[in-house]
Amino acid sequence: MNKKSILITGGLGYIGSHTSIELIEAGFKIIIVDNLCNSSMESLNRLKKLVKSDIPFYNIDIRNKDKLHQVFHENNIDGVIHFAGLKSVNESIEKPIEYYDNNINGAISLIEVMKINNCKTLVFSSSASVYGNPKSLPITENFPLSATNPYGNSKLFIEAILQDLYRSDNNWRISLLRYFNPVGAHKSGLIGESPNGTPNNLMPFISQVAVGNLKKLKVFGADYETIDGTGVRDYIHVTDLAKGHIKALIFLEKKSQLLIANLGTGIGHSVLEMIEAFEKASGCEIPFEIVGRREGDIAKCFADVTFAKKTIGWKAKHNLKEMCEDTWKWQSLNPNGFQ
Ligand code: NAD
Ligand code: WQD
Repeated sequence: MNKKSILITGGLGYIGSHTSIELIEAGFKIIIVDNLCNSSMESLNRLKKLVKSDIPFYNIDIRNKDKLHQVFHENNIDGVIHFAGLKSVNESIEKPIEYYDNNINGAISLIEVMKINNCKTLVFSSSASVYGNPKSLPITENFPLSATNPYGNSKLFIEAILQDLYRSDNNWRISLLRYFNPVGAHKSGLIGESPNGTPNNLMPFISQVAVGNLKKLKVFGADYETIDGTGVRDYIHVTDLAKGHIKALIFLEKKSQLLIANLGTGIGHSVLEMIEAFEKASGCEIPFEIVGRREGDIAKCFADVTFAKKTIGWKAKHNLKEMCEDTWKWQSLNPNGFQ
């Protein structure tokens, strides 16, 4: 049987690179498109080393329809996993138009090119940020949606566009995967998260403190109504997340449909619990100070993961210890990421 070919937009980024490996291991052929705005060619080199084969790569901005069309022309693409997008909440507040342009126009460009090429299978990277500040926990897929920043809005809009698209043509097979907080790295220590500049997210910040790139972690608020006053999130190992995409693709093969699923562990951990777990995994002390709340943060967020298990047969397997160990392996072997 011919291998299915999957186009991965943003495939050199953090989640895209991990998903690329899992896809190849699951027997898919992959083609990567990335404009390297938040990744590097070293990510591709490492991927090739890991899978011991060449990987077709196009340095293309997905908003360039002609070039994207060429990729479809040169490859027999059965489906697309769409990771390409800008993802920093803070930056999106400073540069909303850049975010709307990249994320929304990027998605529209991709959908148009897919349509012309009669490729109608699409898995989209959405985010738990579409739930805004949830009224209760755990969060199920039918919770009300809202966003508090341009990044979250861009995800909400793209979800709406894809739902309208499906309504207009039921031949599409679409999956909206709402990720909670991806952390960790590939077991090999060869690929992992490599943020440009000072990280905004907790886990890369902690690991950069551990490796000595940063002096001290600021804990944003210890006065939330949580177990110890610090923010609680649903951290999920990036390899588990990657495997969720494969399950979603396989599920879409069954029939045309629009699937919306949370990808999380269903377990919440506080910032202080994360620090403690990371200290244990790395043997490094993480100096921290408690400062005021970060604007826009919510107290608690964790997923109800029943639906993903029931429909696509997926469940996260890695625990917090493994998430910290794998992050530490990556960070200690690559103190400056891919640079
Ligand atoms: P990332 O920045 O590491 O990867 C995104 C990749 O897309 C990068 O390699 C970047 O160079 C590329 N890219 C961006 N705009 C592009 C464009 N116009 N054309 C071509 N390539 C482009 O981010 P990630 O953490 O791997 O996230 C992947 C997706 O998952 C994003 O859409 C993000 O919004 C979503 N997501 C991420 C998280 C998270 O915490 N990491 C959580 C929820 C959802
Ligand atoms: C986690 C916890 C912080 C940094 C963001 C996006 C979300 C998704 C994932 C893309 C919170 C605390 C953090 C620090 C801290 N991305 N913290 N000191 O805010 O849950 O989600 O990334 O879709 O859309 O909003 O993740 O890792 O930034 O924060 O105390 O230096 O760690 O206050 O409680 P967040 P995070």
